[in-house]
Amino acid sequence: MNNHIQQSHVGVIGLGVMGKNLALNIADNGYHVAVFDLDTPKVNAAVAQEENERKAGMAPRMQACNNLTEMLANLVEPRVIVLSVPAGAPVDGVCKSLIEAGIEANDIVIDTGNSLWTDTVERESRYKEQFIFFSSAVSGGEVGARFGPSLMPSGDEKAWRYVEPIWKAIAAKVDSTTGLPIERFEPGNPVTEGEPCTAYIGPAGSGHYVKMVHNGIEYADMQLICEAYQLLSDGLGMSAHDVGDIFNGWNKGILNSYLMGISAEVLQQADPLTGKPLVEMILDKAGQKGTGLWTAVSSLQIGCPAPTIAEAVYARAVSTQKNLRMQLSTTLAGPAPVSFSGAEKTEFIANLEDALYCAKVCCYAQGFELMAMTAKEQNWALDFAEIAKIWRAGCIIRATFLQSITQAYQEDVSLTNLLMADTFSQTLSQKQLNWRKTVAAAVMQGIPAPCISSAIAYYDSYRSETLPANLLQGQRDFFGSHTFERTDKPAGEKYHLDWSAKQRTLSKV
Ligand code: 6PG
Repeated sequence: MNNHIQQSHVGVIGLGVMGKNLALNIADNGYHVAVFDLDTPKVNAAVAQEENERKAGMAPRMQACNNLTEMLANLVEPRVIVLSVPAGAPVDGVCKSLIEAGIEANDIVIDTGNSLWTDTVERESRYKEQFIFFSSAVSGGEVGARFGPSLMPSGDEKAWRYVEPIWKAIAAKVDSTTGLPIERFEPGNPVTEGEPCTAYIGPAGSGHYVKMVHNGIEYADMQLICEAYQLLSDGLGMSAHDVGDIFNGWNKGILNSYLMGISAEVLQQADPLTGKPLVEMILDKAGQKGTGLWTAVSSLQIGCPAPTIAEAVYARAVSTQKNLRMQLSTTLAGPAPVSFSGAEKTEFIANLEDALYCAKVCCYAQGFELMAMTAKEQNWALDFAEIAKIWRAGCIIRATFLQSITQAYQEDVSLTNLLMADTFSQTLSQKQLNWRKTVAAAVMQGIPAPCISSAIAYYDSYRSETLPANLLQGQRDFFGSHTFERTDKPAGEKYHLDWSAKQRTLSKV
């Protein structure tokens, strides 16, 4: 391994796709990086790539380490060590090894994986005598990590002040006048202008919580696009390529997003083996690593309605039941096929665009309301305008409309739900009829659209002054004496009807 004496500013442990690219990004921004992985070829590959991409005449910025003791010796103090290892036990495994290697109390260890936020809270206190356990969730996949991710740091504020310049340098950047990403994917030529997509989120765990919700929104956003694909292909009989054209068109308007763009690209990719559209050769069973599920569980635990996010997790679950679906596809009846005239097709596509936008607003509304409820419970002062801002570039859910969310929270910091912001309530009111037509068409054609339709139930529930929960409370009181409040009495006063008595009497409990 190469051996130069320049001390490194940052250590990176774990050189998988994310770790290696973060290390290259840090080096590109002028910092010296010490790297380690248990798998030595990965260390060599990272160092070789840095050497390859480095401009002629420049000194090396990446130092290979044989072990953690060597890494600690190579780092300037206090040491900044970035962990890019799988969430769960590996994080504690590396922390234990760092303690054995002699890490010190002022050193900062930054967990960049998708750790469960409660684990992060627990780790901060578990390791506080040995080192500062800090966290910074990262979004943006391989390209993001390499050329500018969205970073969600949280934990010890002193540690944040120390790593802030590095984080601001490596983060994705947004043009401050347009709110749009500044994208330049060139090794050795990082984007240094614009607003960095990173901001201190809050106490330990809050950054991982915010990233978890980001992923819940990501699940819902992806599923919405997939439902549009099925409606256009099964509903209108369009080819994958033509659906890609529609998505490219939508990507130029209010539905502009990274996910819309890559979906068009996936749909228009030919299979190198058969020449058919690749998407038709990909098995329709979706995987997941758990962050969407955690978001849905968190929403259920805290009592925040996030049905579109939960439906996106269920949609992945139902997709994995391939054998059952194949069996039931031959036994369960559906509606007769519907045929469309050219004008009807055009209308269907326009309605679907509106439906997608409305449902997307609802899934962001659910995610932001969930963060707000948890922030209140955990006593975190989350800045939602700032969170929307740092999601405008670098991350997987980056979309033009995050600029409108940023503005909505800048105008009203205490916004309870995005549906209350004028910009969204007006647009949804105007588009809701087309959204209903899309959901109705999906149901009448027997095409599942769980996210698009759960979002409209969410919208209709929130615009209902009264819901049938009065009957529900009656049912609960009937079989379990669970009591109810009355519309004509002060809130909090509980009543029970003696349902089993001959002469039913009402009592205040
Ligand atoms: C990101 C992504 C990333 C996520 C993967 C896979 O923001 O960069 O959210 O963190 O882990 O995309 O997630 P699933 O395997 O659960 O789909």
